[in-house]
Amino acid sequence: MLADKTVVLGVSGSIAAYKAADLASKLTQAGARVNVVMTEAATRLVTPLTFRSLTGRPVITSLWESSESGIGHITLADTADIVVIAPATANVIARLAAGIADDMLTATVLATRAPVIIAPAMHANMFHNPVTRDNLARLRARGFTIVGPVYGRLASGDTGEGRLVEIEQIIDAVREVLKRSADLSGRHIVVTAGGTQEPIDPARHIGNRSSGKMGHALAEAARDRGAEVTLITAPTHLPEPAGIEVIRVRTATEMREAVVEAVKEASALIMAAAVADYQPKNPAQAKIQKQSPGLTLELVRTPDILSEVKGSFIKVGFAAESEDLVANARKKLAQKGLDLIVANDITEPESGFGADTNKVTILDKQGNVESLPLMSKREVAERILDRVVGLVLTK
Ligand code: C5P
Repeated sequence: MLADKTVVLGVSGSIAAYKAADLASKLTQAGARVNVVMTEAATRLVTPLTFRSLTGRPVITSLWESSESGIGHITLADTADIVVIAPATANVIARLAAGIADDMLTATVLATRAPVIIAPAMHANMFHNPVTRDNLARLRARGFTIVGPVYGRLASGDTGEGRLVEIEQIIDAVREVLKRSADLSGRHIVVTAGGTQEPIDPARHIGNRSSGKMGHALAEAARDRGAEVTLITAPTHLPEPAGIEVIRVRTATEMREAVVEAVKEASALIMAAAVADYQPKNPAQAKIQKQSPGLTLELVRTPDILSEVKGSFIKVGFAAESEDLVANARKKLAQKGLDLIVANDITEPESGFGADTNKVTILDKQGNVESLPLMSKREVAERILDRVVGLVLTK
């Protein structure tokens, strides 16, 4: 797994920096090319020569000196199969969360498309500070994997949660993330997102509160796992994700057409979109004027895309429910002929529309029910894809 992989190992200025020498050595022994990048603070704790001797490769300590070694941050970022920051101080975590790129380490992370693992090490008080918690949550939501810290003795002599995890655990995480980063390679995954809009007249529509965040998180996570991704999205306020084919639609009918076309070569269809169930029967050609005291709209059913599309691909649906979560989801799983259904309770503030987090229950055809704790939508996406990968491989 590690042989011939290029690992960027970022070392920042925590007392635990000396343990990174062991990590660099073990990764090198396992066959990886290890490019060590040290922050200025880290060089005060361990010499670059230590890492150079262990890895047999140049060690980069500043954005400027890198031009001498011939390895700039873009080259480092592009050639990396994975970036590991161990130890990561509260300061580095804050700068990464803010998108700052003022040294070789932060510039490389900002520029890379490779997966990033962060192993924090700091005093427990810093780790428990809400600012640090928030920064870590932001990185997690972007798909970074955070390992540790663990409870134990800290450099200050106190004990608490802030100790770097064991090196073996970091190596396990590297193996796990590398495996995940390619487990959908060669697969085409179609994801839908957002809430459809069904026109009433040229100015108005029937819509819903879907933000598109869950669908985007799924599309990005599938892309990062090596899939070719088509994202079919109803209007959202989200920026267009890179490296993904995006097809913009407005209505349920348009979404159906796009889905039918896109699934032809697909391994899986994941319908995270909130598709309107009803559409105005005869949308007005001109804007409706307010003349009469009341107005009755006649609505007709939209096509049920998930029920209609058939093929050998894995079908995953969502069930946004306000009551009887599992029972309703189970019914939809059967009715729509799904392999998996992801149920979420929209009455929970942190798991409803527009939230960055979600608390879901995944149900499968065999009757298994997996209830996940509250987590970022990106982490939910990874858990759903773990299941999809299993199904795609056994198909
Ligand atoms: O039946 P309900 O709308 O609750 O089902 C939700 C699931 O079905 C979601 O995955 C949604 O994307 C999909 N759906 C669909 N076509 C519709 C309505 C919902 O594909 N017309």
